[in-house]
Amino acid sequence: MRYTTVVTSLAAVLSFGRSAIAVDLTRFGYANILQRASQLKDAYDYVIVGAGTAGLTLADRLTADGTHTVLVIEYCYPISDETLAASDGRWFVDPGISYNITSPPQPFMNSRSQAVIIGCCVGGSSAINGMVFLRGTKSEYDGWAELGGPNSTWNWEGVLPYFKKATHFNPPTEEMTQNFNVTWNPEVWASNGESRLEASFPDYGIPANDAFYKAAANMPNMPIPIDGASGKSGLFWHPTSMDNKKYWRSYSRTAHYDGIVRDNYDVITMHKVKQVLFDGTTATGVKFSVRGLNQTLTVKTRKEVIISAGTIHTPQILQNSGIGPKALLEEADIPVVVDLPGVGQNFQDHYWLTTGYNWTVGTGPPGFNKTQTGNLSTIAGPNLGALIGLPTYSNNSESIASRYESQDPAAYLPESTHPTVIAGYAAFQKLHAKLLRDVNSNWLWLPLIGSPGGIVMSKHILSSGTIKINTTHPDSEPIVDYRALSNPIDLDIMVENILYMRKFMQSSEFAAWKPVETAPGIEVVGEELREWIRSVMWSSNFHPIGTASKRPVELGGVVDEELRVHGTSGLRVVDASVMPSLPGATTQQSVYMIAEKAVDFIKAAQ
Ligand SMILES: Cc1cc2nc3c(=O)[nH]c(=O)nc-3n(C[C@H](O)[C@H](O)[C@H](O)COP(=O)(O)OP(=O)(O)OC[C@H]3O[C@@H](n4cnc5c(N)ncnc54)[C@H](O)[C@@H]3O)c2cc1C
Ligand SMILES: *[C@@H]1O[C@H](CO)[C@@H](O)[C@H](O)[C@H]1NC(C)=O
Ligand SMILES: *[C@@H]1O[C@H](CO)[C@@H](O)[C@H](O)[C@H]1NC(C)=O
Ligand SMILES: *[C@@H]1O[C@H](CO)[C@@H](O)[C@H](O)[C@H]1NC(C)=O
Ligand SMILES: *[C@@H]1O[C@H](CO)[C@@H](O)[C@H](O)[C@H]1NC(C)=O
Ligand SMILES: *[C@@H]1O[C@H](CO)[C@@H](O)[C@H](O)[C@H]1NC(C)=O
Ligand SMILES: *[C@@H]1O[C@H](CO)[C@@H](O)[C@H](O)[C@H]1NC(C)=O
Ligand SMILES: *[C@@H]1O[C@H](CO)[C@@H](O)[C@H](O)[C@H]1NC(C)=O
Ligand SMILES: *[C@@H]1O[C@H](CO)[C@@H](O)[C@H](O)[C@H]1NC(C)=O
Ligand SMILES: *[C@@H]1O[C@H](CO)[C@@H](O)[C@H](O)[C@H]1NC(C)=O
Repeated sequence: MRYTTVVTSLAAVLSFGRSAIAVDLTRFGYANILQRASQLKDAYDYVIVGAGTAGLTLADRLTADGTHTVLVIEYCYPISDETLAASDGRWFVDPGISYNITSPPQPFMNSRSQAVIIGCCVGGSSAINGMVFLRGTKSEYDGWAELGGPNSTWNWEGVLPYFKKATHFNPPTEEMTQNFNVTWNPEVWASNGESRLEASFPDYGIPANDAFYKAAANMPNMPIPIDGASGKSGLFWHPTSMDNKKYWRSYSRTAHYDGIVRDNYDVITMHKVKQVLFDGTTATGVKFSVRGLNQTLTVKTRKEVIISAGTIHTPQILQNSGIGPKALLEEADIPVVVDLPGVGQNFQDHYWLTTGYNWTVGTGPPGFNKTQTGNLSTIAGPNLGALIGLPTYSNNSESIASRYESQDPAAYLPESTHPTVIAGYAAFQKLHAKLLRDVNSNWLWLPLIGSPGGIVMSKHILSSGTIKINTTHPDSEPIVDYRALSNPIDLDIMVENILYMRKFMQSSEFAAWKPVETAPGIEVVGEELREWIRSVMWSSNFHPIGTASKRPVELGGVVDEELRVHGTSGLRVVDASVMPSLPGATTQQSVYMIAEKAVDFIKAAQ
């Protein structure tokens, strides 16, 4: 297999989309997809906002024993099965199935705006994501617990059972393990029938990845854990969210919705939730409307409203419901139910260099002498990469960590930031100063896709963004401000990432292939390199988190340890927005874990 072909197919993961077809899913005989509010029951035990990654996971689990009724309200529409093939990934910028939001100009990115790409269909972002299936490390989830307070159960031991429960793991083929040293630890995965969310490997390995693996393994200090899912950093193979019977995308819809017919599980599509209804501070239901119409429909809940609208829209719904920073709500004439300064703060996403950062090789990697069968089209996305700690790849980790910890916590936050949010940032800063020195915290992701290219990604971000309603038009899309690179340490780290990529290319294994960095070129260093990063960097790898953070209220938190919105009852948030800090990983697996863990809290409250 010529690896130029592989480049073209894997480039899909990192570039552009194909169109999807909207269909009426009822013709497939799926669960109760409703299209008119008149078809709804008067009240449900649980009303879930958003049929996305977390929303459908919750709905499936909460309806399974038949004792409680659930309604899921989804803004977008179901898409057909026709585009499910793993190799045919319907990647991101497809306007048919993603929202159309752009950030304001980012001053530290040369005033460029960032496209805010999130999924819009039944399945949410899990329907359009790159299918890379990674967890963060033990240190990173222990950090979630640290930010949560002394009795937090969100440490590694407290999240691992839910990671296992969320996924059905399929080991790689014998041939893959022999040819590529794919190893895994069965203790951190489940292969029983608890979940239909499939994590699998392709049945074909890209030959050049054998050489890439060896070159990376030979880098000084490179750890090689048996399994990256066991809480450690290093070089490892990992699965994608793919069903290896059909080699199709596995996502929240196929895992938690398709084929489930239950009288107590309703989904209504093409309807938009505007706000949560309250009796005092107790959630009683939601106000919603047909998508695109200005009307008022309501549905009541007997137990809880659960917001799973994702990191971008969850804070918008909370703010429009009167839960958020008082000054913002007053500016929009929204009566304050709970003054909660953290709603929409603490917004984080992964920064990366993609098209624009280019390198190529003079001669191809050495040949592959093992026989191999299998099908290239079973590769859904990258399966190999190095996810490593700053001390593993930079001699500057200590100086960066001490510079970071000596910052005034308020120095790089917006001017009017509330004292509790600043206190939360101070705790975040203390945690990240520790993670900067930790070889088991992933700061760099170097995906290895068996071909030259040029992708480096920063897996922890120290700048803190905001999401606020548009105060003159609260119903239109919120203002999504990454505040990218506002904390200068993020730029220092991106520089280290590039320097490491250059070292990798110059390593003894690699040098024989005569690699050339074609853009920006290795002569570009220092201030010129920093300027170049500002001109090409993306401030989103589509992993937004943090805007309804799980933290104590004194630390600017929005939800408590059981994901209940502070100051309310009958209201939870369960989605990526509750993550208090980024895992050093892509985010979907953590979202499934959060949803599975939330189910236990919700059931315990029944
Ligand atoms: C292009 C792309 C590529 C990605 N690649 C990867 C990857 O390779 N690996 C990985 O691990 N992660 C990846 N991710 C990230 C991962 O998919 C997300 O972190 C995760 O799916 C988020 O889940 P969620 O439940 O928080 O939100 P979502 O799954 O986005 O669900 C939110 C749902 O709420 C609905 N909604 C919003 N507002 C309203 C409203 N007012 N009323 C009704 N419904 C509403 C939305 O339409 C959506 O269906 C990617 C994401 C994208 C977008
Ligand atoms: C996205 O929004 C912009 C303006 O905000 C508009 O010009 C463009 O047509 C929209 N694209 C789609 C696909 O709706
Ligand atoms: C933690 O648990 C202990 C023992 O149950 C309890 O006394 C304490 O108040 C709890 N602390 C917090 C912050 O919840
Ligand atoms: C194969 O992986 C294991 C970790 O599971 C590692 O210890 C070993 O060094 C690797 N072997 C080679 C040849 O890279
Ligand atoms: C929606 O309808 C309400 C009540 O009729 C009205 O007050 C409001 O201005 C309308 N909003 C828009 C955006 O048209
Ligand atoms: C980098 O590569 C991309 C995609 O292959 C190409 O479009 C672009 O022109 C290249 N840029 C430079 C400066 O080489
Ligand atoms: C493949 O075999 C040839 C001939 O035996 C040998 O020269 C070469 O080094 C081998 N390549 C690899 C990658 O093992
Ligand atoms: C390879 O896999 C793709 C995707 O599953 C499939 O469409 C194709 O038929 C397969 N090719 C062969 C030769 O099996
Ligand atoms: C640190 O510097 C030494 C000496 O220059 C070098 O050998 C080593 O590879 C460097 N380590 C890292 C992680 O960059
Ligand atoms: C608020 O929404 C209106 C209507 O969509 C739009 O014209 C305006 O630009 C938005 N304001 C901001 C700050 O984006």
